[in-house]
Amino acid sequence: MTSIMLIMLLTFLVASCNCAVEFSSRPRNFSIEIFFFTQREGRLDHFVMSPFCIWSVMTGAYAGAHGDTNTQIQRATGILKNHTLFLKRLKDLSNTLFQSTPNGVELSSTTFLFQDKDVSVLQSYKTTLNRSYKAQLRILDFQDTLETANQANRVIQNIFPTVSNVFHADDFAKASLILGNVIYFRGILKTPFNVSYTTEEIIYDEKNKSIGSISMMHQKGKLPYSNFETMNSYILELPYGNDEKFCMLVIFPYPGVRPIDVYRNLDKIYIKDILTKLETDFKNNGSQEIDVKMPRFRIRTSMPLRKPLNDMGVFDAFEPDLGRFEDISRDGLYIHSVEHKAEIIFAESETVVFATTPGYFDNQPFSSNLKAQQPFIFFLIEKPTATIIFAGIYSRHRYLNDLNSRILFNDD
Ligand SMILES: *[C@@H]1O[C@H](CO)[C@@H](O)[C@H](O)[C@H]1NC(C)=O
Ligand SMILES: *[C@@H]1O[C@H](CO)[C@@H](O)[C@H](O)[C@H]1NC(C)=O
Ligand SMILES: *[C@@H]1O[C@H](CO)[C@@H](O)[C@H](O)[C@H]1NC(C)=O
Ligand SMILES: *[C@@H]1O[C@H](CO)[C@@H](O)[C@H](O)[C@H]1NC(C)=O
Ligand SMILES: *[C@@H]1O[C@H](CO)[C@@H](O)[C@H](O)[C@H]1NC(C)=O
Ligand SMILES: *[C@@H]1O[C@H](CO)[C@@H](O)[C@H](O)[C@H]1NC(C)=O
Repeated sequence: MTSIMLIMLLTFLVASCNCAVEFSSRPRNFSIEIFFFTQREGRLDHFVMSPFCIWSVMTGAYAGAHGDTNTQIQRATGILKNHTLFLKRLKDLSNTLFQSTPNGVELSSTTFLFQDKDVSVLQSYKTTLNRSYKAQLRILDFQDTLETANQANRVIQNIFPTVSNVFHADDFAKASLILGNVIYFRGILKTPFNVSYTTEEIIYDEKNKSIGSISMMHQKGKLPYSNFETMNSYILELPYGNDEKFCMLVIFPYPGVRPIDVYRNLDKIYIKDILTKLETDFKNNGSQEIDVKMPRFRIRTSMPLRKPLNDMGVFDAFEPDLGRFEDISRDGLYIHSVEHKAEIIFAESETVVFATTPGYFDNQPFSSNLKAQQPFIFFLIEKPTATIIFAGIYSRHRYLNDLNSRILFNDD
């Protein structure tokens, strides 16, 4: 949902205003921080999230917030203090991200507001959501929780046919208003893995006991790839579609290095710097083929975000007696919960990812019972703006060590 969107704002500022330095670290911080605090809170070593989706929803909440509630969200999200200007930048960014996608890529995002018939929402707020977020607004009867969940799910499924069951009846029992966002990406890899080369590999736990198998995909090709010493990692770029707009950045920590320790470097190293180095190295070494092995995988994650947002300084919004959202409604609203759900399917030729905030939180334990060994970090990125649309860590498999050493440079 979040992180790179903010870096995009930074780019705008650099172009349009001398206050760039002052604002620059805020947008970057939100994505870096929400990822960091979320994984820490859930002790997540195997998950997917959309910081961009979370950021969108939080900025939507900000639009109706007052006092300290307003200030805290503003600081955490790096929203520009001039809200008019912020909404203008947001619109520009949304246009850049969602309006022209290349062949082989679908990317869409929708904000929605479901409102109980007994709660009044100010017209000015609805207008903001409509104009700046192109939001779907619906008034529903939250008393009838099951029917309301069905209706809400239909609204979402009308826009995203493959996204079902976002809401359950329980969600409406505890809320009087639901503000959310759904983001969906589907992309065909520019250089797909050939299914004929995919092999099953057994994975073992730390006691050398077999605990299952994974499908290991394989390809040899000319792909952007760098040894990134300052990040203790190898970094691979897998482009989508027919141009340079979207890609998956895969960061393989050196053997023995934890992903989160690599991740920490991202408060000093910009995604743009990574992309630049990949490009430079590719120009210099591009005629060489590399061998890539990656698991075919599917990850689903549900995560409550109150604690991570608390860690980022957002408190009042969650307190019944402190939350101030007078610009949404005079009915004394506060945020009951922020829930995020995301899923990625990464296969030979196609990647499908979607995320919702809030999402149905299904109480599955976060951490896997498989011992994580040599995991990797992935970022789904819109390159021109360096916007991170999805991010996650894969760690269910101990042979990634081999993967590092098997990215070989062959002489032509
Ligand atoms: C961003 O994070 C860095 C540390 O990671 C911190 O020094 C800086 O003050 C933060 N900037 C803002 C605007 O919060
Ligand atoms: C906020 O931004 C708008 C649009 O760029 C501008 O017209 C307005 O003067 C700004 N307001 C303040 C207080 O700077
Ligand atoms: C949102 O705005 C469009 C025009 O921009 C208008 O047609 C539509 O009725 C508005 N929807 C709501 C719910 O206000
Ligand atoms: C995949 O590999 C098989 C076996 O080498 C080959 O026959 C086939 O043409 C390849 N498919 C594609 C799409 O390259
Ligand atoms: C793990 O088990 C395999 C056979 O299942 C054996 O060949 C191998 O030596 C064992 N490795 C270790 C480190 O015990
Ligand atoms: C790729 O090119 C860079 C210079 O851009 C060089 O430092 C690096 O060693 C090269 N890598 C390989 C594997 O040749």
